[in-house]
Amino acid sequence: MFHYLCLAVTMKAPNLRMCTTSCFLLVIILSSLSLQACGSQKANRPTVNVIIVGGTGDLAKKYLWQGFFNLYQEQNDGFTFSFIGAARMAATEGDGQLAKILQDNVSCAKSVRPDENCEAKLTEYRSIVTYRKLKTASDYADLCRDIGQDAAKEHGRLFYLSVPPFAYAGIAESIARGCRPSGGGWLRVVLEKPFGRDYSSAQDLAKKLSPYLREEEIYRIDHYLGKIGVESILPFRLFNQDTHKKLWDGEHIERVEIVMKEKIDSKGRLEFYDEYGVIRDVMQNHLTEIFTLVAMELPRNITSRAEFLDNKIRLLEQTRPVNAEQAVIAQYNGYVDQWREELGKDQSEETLVPTFAAGSLFVKNPRWSDVPFVLMAGKKLDERVGYVRVIFRDDAICVTNAGSGSQNKCAKNRQQVIFFTGNPGLKYPTILVSKQLPKPQVPPSWSIPDTDPNMEIFNEKLSNFYYFSPPKDQDAYTSLISACFKGDQQKFVGSRDLMASWNIWTPLLKSIENQKPRIYEGGDDTGSWLDFKVKGQTLSYIHQLGNAFDYQNVGSTFTSISDQFRSQPLITGEKESVITQLAQHLFNIAGQAIRERGSFHIALPGGSTPKSLFTHLAIRMSNRFPWHDTHFWMVDERCVPFNHTASNFKQLHDSLLKYVPVPYLNIHPMPVKLASGLCAAADRGTNTYASDLTLVPEGRLDYILLGMGSDGHVASIFPNHKIMTDTTAEVALTDGGPQDGIPHRMTLTFATINKARHVGVLILGRAKRGMVSVLSSEGVVNPLRYPVTGVRLEQGEQYWYIDHDALL
Ligand code: BG6
Repeated sequence: MFHYLCLAVTMKAPNLRMCTTSCFLLVIILSSLSLQACGSQKANRPTVNVIIVGGTGDLAKKYLWQGFFNLYQEQNDGFTFSFIGAARMAATEGDGQLAKILQDNVSCAKSVRPDENCEAKLTEYRSIVTYRKLKTASDYADLCRDIGQDAAKEHGRLFYLSVPPFAYAGIAESIARGCRPSGGGWLRVVLEKPFGRDYSSAQDLAKKLSPYLREEEIYRIDHYLGKIGVESILPFRLFNQDTHKKLWDGEHIERVEIVMKEKIDSKGRLEFYDEYGVIRDVMQNHLTEIFTLVAMELPRNITSRAEFLDNKIRLLEQTRPVNAEQAVIAQYNGYVDQWREELGKDQSEETLVPTFAAGSLFVKNPRWSDVPFVLMAGKKLDERVGYVRVIFRDDAICVTNAGSGSQNKCAKNRQQVIFFTGNPGLKYPTILVSKQLPKPQVPPSWSIPDTDPNMEIFNEKLSNFYYFSPPKDQDAYTSLISACFKGDQQKFVGSRDLMASWNIWTPLLKSIENQKPRIYEGGDDTGSWLDFKVKGQTLSYIHQLGNAFDYQNVGSTFTSISDQFRSQPLITGEKESVITQLAQHLFNIAGQAIRERGSFHIALPGGSTPKSLFTHLAIRMSNRFPWHDTHFWMVDERCVPFNHTASNFKQLHDSLLKYVPVPYLNIHPMPVKLASGLCAAADRGTNTYASDLTLVPEGRLDYILLGMGSDGHVASIFPNHKIMTDTTAEVALTDGGPQDGIPHRMTLTFATINKARHVGVLILGRAKRGMVSVLSSEGVVNPLRYPVTGVRLEQGEQYWYIDHDALL
């Protein structure tokens, strides 16, 4: 009871106007002895004033108020705090907003000490946070006059600038003009990135701040330096110094990957994002900071901030500036649309800002020469994960058991050390070391987390690693706020290291200013499109655009087939998934065909079923598919002019061909309208098409996609049209078909279809269920009645793509 009251008085005391009548009543009923003890305890505490400029903004809401509450919990026994949330709005509005932010966003659940005292502390904390309007120089003067009343007791004053960088210089000036603690307390000003856009703008910013703030007063925050996985890198290295002296170098390490993948896109913050892009947003800062922790020389005296900084700066200065050959960039599909919408841009305007990039850093020193440090980051990727992966060289060749599979020790997986630096630290252990490497030493407080040893990480069982996690996974801002309070500048970015980092990235940023980034689909649909390789100093995409497409690296197997239909591979799922898999399959087969024969020949059907595939190819594979080497043929065509809405070719054209760079000579519509009219026998259009088909290597189309009608027809081969199932002609005219008013058609026959290298039958929608159920009995083979059963390839492979609606 006594303790609680004492805290209550303590919290009110710095601001006597807040002490209510009940407070005094409570004080009176305390014994005078207790009161004196409490009062002297409180009176002796040094005070700390915290001012969050931008205290009602997003960052403050999400992290800062909680982070300062955590600090309050940690340090309140020794200090008396005052917290001020400042913004430009009047107090009438600001008071309420701030109170709501504290109510909604700060909680014991997010606290580092969620013990039984937490709620009481939180109530205290909320009550000592006040709002202040800070707009003009005189607002600053008033504020600082108020908080500086008892100068001798002021231990320190922390300004957290959570505002855009253009405001930094003005605020720094106001602070310098009369806001430094006058009684010897410290002044610390925390700045949030971005610290410039390139070397010269960062230098400008530094010049603007230097008249007002000393370097030791500036705390440039990089919140990644407060993440537990990042904070663990140096302790891990220090604990393993002896082993690492032997192993932590280019003789043993092949490459280091420093990765930050995000699933979110940039929507909602495009004004900022488009000014910066992925390299400035996270690579120049977060990933480069991590790089320094992995690659710098360890300070001999671990507590020496000066030695740490010297080593960090030396490393950055030894790192070669990145040029365009050492990097790849890309932008997610839809970024430009979001940008136009959010910033009110015109349809004709473009932005080339990359949302994905990878770049390799090389260090010119004996330890690291020729070891690529590959930094990679992107938005709208398939997963959210951040890690450092140190991959060791593997050049041992085993003699004993060399040929006996699992016994060959040298053929085992890569030796690696992994630090998980992103947020899902709870899912994986924070640090993993391959068991082929010496068993690491770790600080005594690190433990082995209770994670499923069969869990796979980089294709390897967790049980193949030694693994550890440091004790608490506290939020990065909490860790850095606490470090700032303690004056631990090592966890912050200094001006010289900042400039050295910009020096590394600025040449690349300049050289890609007008470079069109590769477009990627985003999420899982990106597939392997962003995969890249590092060869010597060059970093390049594996899959190249257009004619330069690197077919050697395109997979040729279709891995997702898990089921069978009529003893043939079945690809099933929801419609979208079936279409995505079909498109990927076509992509793989195209790669294989071009690799083997120089071109890819595909025949496509009409009707409503393939339309979603066409759209998918046009939008999602526009930059990916080898359009230049693909020939488009028709499976069948209605005898109508090409501009008729029922024309299959028109549909293919309108949904796909007009959007993609297929050479004109690669497009082969069926000649349904010749001299004498539509599908006139005298024009011998079927012969013309058959002779065009001799262009196809060995007369075998690489892929024929068929739709299937609910009566089982495929192409324009309808039930009970004997001639169509018997004909040896490659192309034929038919007058059968459903009553759609267009009975005459031209079609490939089974003679052509069954010669193909691959045939896929695409079946979507409930209307096809009946026929799918008939076909599910494999014994049903009756091409006359069910033409689809006439598809029986001589040598090729047949696939079924059936969505759940049609299959279940
Ligand atoms: C910020 C970037 O610095 O870091 C954002 O500006 C990014 O673009 C964010 O999303 C990621 O941080 P975290 O902590 O969520 O991994």
